[in-house]
Amino acid sequence: MESNEILSLLAEHYKLKGSLIPLAGELDLNYKLTIDNETAFIVKISRDPETIASIAFQEALLCHLKEKGIEGEVPQLIQNLSGTYQKEVFLNGKKAILRVLQWVEGRLWSQTNPILSDLRYGLGNHLGNIAQNLQDFKHPFAQRSFEWNLSECLWVEQHLGLFTATELELVTPFITAFKTHQKTYNQLPKSIIHNDANDHNIVVSQALIQPKIIGIIDYGDACYSQTINDLAVACTYGIMDTEDPLAASLPIVKGYHQANELSETAVSHLYHLIGMRLVISLTKAAINKKSHPENKYLLVSEKPAWALLHKWWKINSKRAYYSFRKACGFKAHPNLAKFEQWGKANTFSLKTLFPSQKKQDTLHLDLSVSSLWIENEAAFNDLTYFQYKIERLQEANPHKIIAGGYLEPRPLYTSEDYDIQSNEGPISRCVHLGVDFWLPSKTTVHALLDGRVVMALDRKGEKEYGGFVVLEHQIDAMHFYTLYGHLDPESIAAHKVGDALKKDSLIGLLGNKENNGNWAPHLHFQILLDLLDYTEDFPGVQTYQEQDLWADLCPDPNLLFKFEELKPKLKPTTEDIMPFRKKHLGKSLSIQYQEPLQVVRGHGAYLIDQNGQKYLDTVNNVAHVGHEHPSVVKAGQQQMAVLNTNTRYLHPNLNKAAKAIIDTLPKGLEVVHFVNSGSEANELALRMAYTVTGGKEVIASEHGYHGNTNGTIGVSSYKFNGKGGQGKPKDTHLIPMPDAFRGKYLGENTGSLYAQEVHKTIASIQEQQKTLAGFIIEPIISCGGQVPLPNNFLALAYKAVRAAGGLCISDEVQTGCGRMGTHFWGFELYGVSPDIVTIGKPLGNGHPVAAVVCTQEVAQKFANGMEFFNTFGGNPVSCAIASETLTVVKKEKLQENANQVGSYLIQELKTLQKDFPILKDIRGHGLFIGLELLSDQQNPLALETSYLANRMKDLGILMSTDGPDHNVLKIKPPMVFSFSQADRLLHGLRRVLKEDFLSVPKTL
Ligand SMILES: Cc1ncc(COP(=O)(O)O)c(C=O)c1O
Repeated sequence: MESNEILSLLAEHYKLKGSLIPLAGELDLNYKLTIDNETAFIVKISRDPETIASIAFQEALLCHLKEKGIEGEVPQLIQNLSGTYQKEVFLNGKKAILRVLQWVEGRLWSQTNPILSDLRYGLGNHLGNIAQNLQDFKHPFAQRSFEWNLSECLWVEQHLGLFTATELELVTPFITAFKTHQKTYNQLPKSIIHNDANDHNIVVSQALIQPKIIGIIDYGDACYSQTINDLAVACTYGIMDTEDPLAASLPIVKGYHQANELSETAVSHLYHLIGMRLVISLTKAAINKKSHPENKYLLVSEKPAWALLHKWWKINSKRAYYSFRKACGFKAHPNLAKFEQWGKANTFSLKTLFPSQKKQDTLHLDLSVSSLWIENEAAFNDLTYFQYKIERLQEANPHKIIAGGYLEPRPLYTSEDYDIQSNEGPISRCVHLGVDFWLPSKTTVHALLDGRVVMALDRKGEKEYGGFVVLEHQIDAMHFYTLYGHLDPESIAAHKVGDALKKDSLIGLLGNKENNGNWAPHLHFQILLDLLDYTEDFPGVQTYQEQDLWADLCPDPNLLFKFEELKPKLKPTTEDIMPFRKKHLGKSLSIQYQEPLQVVRGHGAYLIDQNGQKYLDTVNNVAHVGHEHPSVVKAGQQQMAVLNTNTRYLHPNLNKAAKAIIDTLPKGLEVVHFVNSGSEANELALRMAYTVTGGKEVIASEHGYHGNTNGTIGVSSYKFNGKGGQGKPKDTHLIPMPDAFRGKYLGENTGSLYAQEVHKTIASIQEQQKTLAGFIIEPIISCGGQVPLPNNFLALAYKAVRAAGGLCISDEVQTGCGRMGTHFWGFELYGVSPDIVTIGKPLGNGHPVAAVVCTQEVAQKFANGMEFFNTFGGNPVSCAIASETLTVVKKEKLQENANQVGSYLIQELKTLQKDFPILKDIRGHGLFIGLELLSDQQNPLALETSYLANRMKDLGILMSTDGPDHNVLKIKPPMVFSFSQADRLLHGLRRVLKEDFLSVPKTL
């Protein structure tokens, strides 16, 4: 009824005809008017006296912005037939004002997913631009008294009775803070501001990847207020529903400051203002809940607002202030420059800090993620060994104090206390904020300057500080703090907060691992420009993401000592590495990910980059028993230290490794040839087949990959039919990929149909009077997109091949060594036994060792007089590594783990599939899984698959894509992959699958 009336009003006053869709609105009636499915307008009917009173003001404001030339970004008013922008009308017999505005094309912030930093920056920048252009706009209506005006926020105090005691705990601190800072706040610059950049008023472009801010609509709440309030409002809504709201607010602040410069004083109010805006919203919601229980729109933002207020309240206000300063390009701490100047002018001697030490010089010790000195986690967590190495280093450098560590990203902080949830998944605190001095326990530590004790306690616990002292120093008008960690708690027991400590007086003694948090003895020495309200602790490491902030709050202690040796060491960045690599390394090498990763360390199922960022690795099946598994590493290191030669000498390792492999294989497969790579293994297997059969003809599957050598490329259609490939060699014969899901024959029971293809191929070879040498295939075709073979196919195919005199080669380079979970080898899934098995990737857990295993008969015939010699194949080091890898698979029950975690993953992925139908097929065995992405019309979704892999990387999870159509996501992690890691993967997938680029229906 109402919309018919509105349509006739639109026709009468605007000559506009079309269809109306109602839109959400608090006080106005809002509609979208569409004409001929193209042009669109917003129709606003205002009946509320307050809104009616503001219409002339809004009109003037929009015209002002138009004059300033930012037309496209703000909604344009449309003139009616009388040449004005508003029309008094009667709707349902009541007076109302009708306005029509140009539709701002796009979607709302509230409908956009994901919201990433760039978009938040765009929001701040856009709003800053509007604020900048409104600086010289004046209007009497803007001065009205208005409850949403933050400068009038104290009206909320009359309604505190609506809150529970727990709610009041969150609300009152912000009211108190507002009052405390009101005097300076009142003096902040004022202007007319939009004042309502909430998620229903921000229009975002339709682009599903990297969308941009198009405009901010609805100027109904614009008012004259402190300019900073506009930013506070935008931040409040722009950080709703985030894990880390402070981090989310920073790009908004940065973007705003770039467009409309903020003063340092204004920034100091931002944290409280964001809290206060939430308090206003929640008070309004509480009032409305009472008076309009039926109006859902009024209550819409209540729940996330409480959640945000709770998180915001937990954030230290000073930390927020310093973060905002940094986002604006100021030094995070206002005293930093002063401190640096003072530091430059005053030099301290280590003799003051450690009077018992004769040494005057320092030796830098690199404990960063890429440091080889610290070795792996097993080594650096073995404190006796660590201490032994320190002592050796000290012996070699008797006149130097071993020190270092400022801003070093370290892998040392392995306790869970160091992990935090960021907006992009879990991250760990790993960047060291102080300098460590590696000196013996009981070394005395003395005050560098006069000071006052502000903390002195025993911080017990694994990887904690142990005995811990913080002193406050006052220099001219500036004060700062020095922090001493890992002291003997007894030695500091006498210090009390408030005690004065004179320069040179004793602070305490260095502790030992029993009382210093379980570290090799050292002093952690850190400078703090602010205590950030800590009273019993202070972080000594922070995240890489916040490194720049913390570097300003905790300046380099070496500023006081000025050792050349301790100056920050710059490690090669991605930008340093790329140009050389591009110029001087093979031009056909590829690099994973749009933003390449530099990985410098591995551990278990994780890869770690040069900044200490940990990535959960679901790609590297080469690191079979976990990246840098300590016992495999040790086996290699120990053998390498003693002997490495070739197979022309006897060595027990060769027999031991061969036996370890044979023990896992079915009877009959019992002669081993060691080589160095999967390609070499397949090359040798082919040569065996040629020699044994006298034939040259090989049958292989379409989309198969078997290696990078000439011979193996010749049987890899993935390569010879791929980019740059030279087509199929004449003695290679392809069968269609036995893909029951999307291949030539569809369905579970197509094994015999695909086997018929083998029969046909053999017949055609024989027709040409040629001899079949063999058939090579993987049990699950990896590069083909993790395609398991249909039931009975392999048994029938092997039978046909053998009947024609050929040999059957199972390429287990990807699938072998327990990965299948239920079986140790892939071919066992199908109840067959090949004549030759090739083993590669998993065998050396990253070390280049591979093997070809065949029957006695094949081995006999292959030994035709020509020596098989491979310089590196079967060397004692590689064999020690291969044996140990297989031992670890058994000892740690990794095949069972692959079965259990793999089955769980497949089952949960199938649950996920129900919610996200683009996951058209989930397949695989054990920890060798593929997800195929197709549209509803069964078309491959390569871009979506690549998007998924890249976004998962943003969340700290590495995944790879494959398949002839690049639309299969592969999951083949190290076999130590745990249930909780599987959950993290599933959680990440669910999150990304909800994102717009993947969730918009794929109809092509
Ligand atoms: C199934 C299969 N066979 C053989 C190879 C070649 O192994 P390599 O790269 O160790 O030479 C690969 C490598 O990806 C493979 O996936």
